[in-house]
Amino acid sequence: MENFEFINPTRILFGKNSEEKVGEQVALHSKTILLHYGGGSIKASGLFDRVTASLKKAGVQWVELGGVQPNPRLSLVHEGVKLCKEHKLGLILAVGGGSVIDSAKAIAMGAVIEGDVWDFYLGKGEPVAALPIGTVLTIPAAGSEASTGTVITNEEGWLKRAVNSELIYPRFSILNPELAFSLPKFQVACGVTDIMAHLLERYFTNVQHVELTDRLIEATMKTLISQAPLVLQNPKDYDAWSEIMWAGTVAHNNLLNTGRVGDWASHEIEHEISGIYDIAHGAGLAVVFPAWMKYVWKHDVNRFVQWSVRVWNVEMDVFNPEAVAQAGIERMEAFFQSMGLVTRLSEMDIPADRIDEMAAKCTKSGKRSFGSFVKLGYEDVRKILNLAA
Ligand code: NZQ
Ligand code: ZN
Repeated sequence: MENFEFINPTRILFGKNSEEKVGEQVALHSKTILLHYGGGSIKASGLFDRVTASLKKAGVQWVELGGVQPNPRLSLVHEGVKLCKEHKLGLILAVGGGSVIDSAKAIAMGAVIEGDVWDFYLGKGEPVAALPIGTVLTIPAAGSEASTGTVITNEEGWLKRAVNSELIYPRFSILNPELAFSLPKFQVACGVTDIMAHLLERYFTNVQHVELTDRLIEATMKTLISQAPLVLQNPKDYDAWSEIMWAGTVAHNNLLNTGRVGDWASHEIEHEISGIYDIAHGAGLAVVFPAWMKYVWKHDVNRFVQWSVRVWNVEMDVFNPEAVAQAGIERMEAFFQSMGLVTRLSEMDIPADRIDEMAAKCTKSGKRSFGSFVKLGYEDVRKILNLAA
């Protein structure tokens, strides 16, 4: 195991009706806030009314900024920054999924500086302060409700880039599994796939003797595999949603990467796809992850065998570990398909003609390599995207 430091300061309020506590949580930090949300699902479900009632009760005033799109855009972040500065707002409340939360995090960093927050996403400087953020989560997926990450798309050049900073850990996140009941099946599948991907990125490591976190990750994966079919069959299965929602947070709140080094290459490759084609992040991961695995599994056959046997119940065959490793990859792909996702770019109507461009974008035209389990350069990314095509 590697040396590590661990902190996760986000207060989680989990369970039925927990959104009723949003006003009192917000008021601990500020009485004038930005209320940030997406394209309208929170109004259709009645959540908006419940949240604003709770804010009123706590004496909190708000300025509204809705309209966050999936793959949240920099231009709306700039609007939010302007509103925070103009009205001297003291907290950003994100009500929605990863896109709304990531947009809120960007605004939180941008509201306290003179320059453009996009510079942080380009790696020019690091944030030194941010407004506090709170969240009411409506889709278990990105894990942004308790993560250090924010991913924003700049419409100029369609660059999708991330920042990680402890400053943007939400102060609190409200997780009521009932809020997921209204999710379309496609978003359920994308969310579960993203959670699975966060676990896979951590699982495939070169660090040895990480038995505890291996087992915790495996347990979280098995929970997803058993619970996802239940919510797809019955969208109001509170117990199954509870498991998935908590899995989504646990998968990405940094506990499961303690003492190990994650890979993250599949996420970087996927961000190029969703940055250009504006597809759902989870849908992109269902395409990239199987391709990445088919490209790298020989790097550590034993780790793939362990994963296949423990997570996917593949029967051990000591005389043919290669077949065991490959069977795990096949079962994972079948799991994504069973939720209604496709696992090839061509099935998404994404032509293979921009593979070179995507490979160039994520390797800075071949000048940079990335990934940890296996380091990837320009040619590797091209090969992986061709496997995904
Ligand atoms: O905009 P509304 O109308 O709310 O509709 C949303 C959106 O269309 C809808 N939705 C959300 N909750 C709903 C609902 N519809 C009905 N009922 C509900 N309860 O679902 C759609 C997708 O929402 P979005 O927020 O985009 O989903 P997700 O949580 O998957 O977030 C994806 C974004 O997070 C980034 C991704 O790259 C992507 O941009 N990620 C952020 C990470 C982080 N900050 O740590 C890590 C992840 O790896 C990921 O990269
Ligand atoms: Zn993800």
